[in-house]
Amino acid sequence: MRTLVIDHPLVTHKLTALRDATSDTATFRSLTAELVTLLAYEATREMRVQPVSVTTPVGVARGVKLARPVPLIVPVLRAGIGMLDGMTRLLPMADVGFVGLVRDEESLVASTYADRLPAVLTGRDTFVLDPMLATGGTLATVIAMLADRGATSVTAICLLAAPEGLRRVERAFADGGTPVVRVVAAAVDERLNDRGYIVPGLGDAGDRLFGQV
Ligand code: URA
Repeated sequence: MRTLVIDHPLVTHKLTALRDATSDTATFRSLTAELVTLLAYEATREMRVQPVSVTTPVGVARGVKLARPVPLIVPVLRAGIGMLDGMTRLLPMADVGFVGLVRDEESLVASTYADRLPAVLTGRDTFVLDPMLATGGTLATVIAMLADRGATSVTAICLLAAPEGLRRVERAFADGGTPVVRVVAAAVDERLNDRGYIVPGLGDAGDRLFGQV
């Protein structure tokens, strides 16, 4: 697994505002979308393309277009839904699949309650959207689901990651294996607290995006 932490002043500026406990829901949502688009720019750097030529008003230019099959974006319910707009802004041609995982507040173990993924993902680049890579249990489960269906690559886009979660996903998906696994994050924070929250983090991303329902 490869980890890419995006060190860019705009990313850090937006992340700082996102962390701020006084940011309201509307601000939190729009900052999330903007941050995801910035992270997605780096996360898509190794996407498969094929050469094409186009006729301009003055000649022929060589370029590329994204290779088929189109990528699959997988927001993890519920908080990942808050990242979908920012991602489809950059990849409007992508398909979208959904997985739902809920973690037990006591054991912190994640269990799957929704699986709307294509049965076959052979040859496809996939992008998992989950704002908080905390214990790594959810992400490891989702990556395994995509790997079982034959995905070529799995790139997780996270706003924040904890060292504990990164280590867990790294142990499960060693470098050089199939699929290629990458994690792209705006920052890696200090640690998890005893409730599995990232410290200093930004709190409960789902609650801050959608309210406490
Ligand atoms: N999920 C969240 O929403 N926040 C955390 O800090 C950890 C997991």
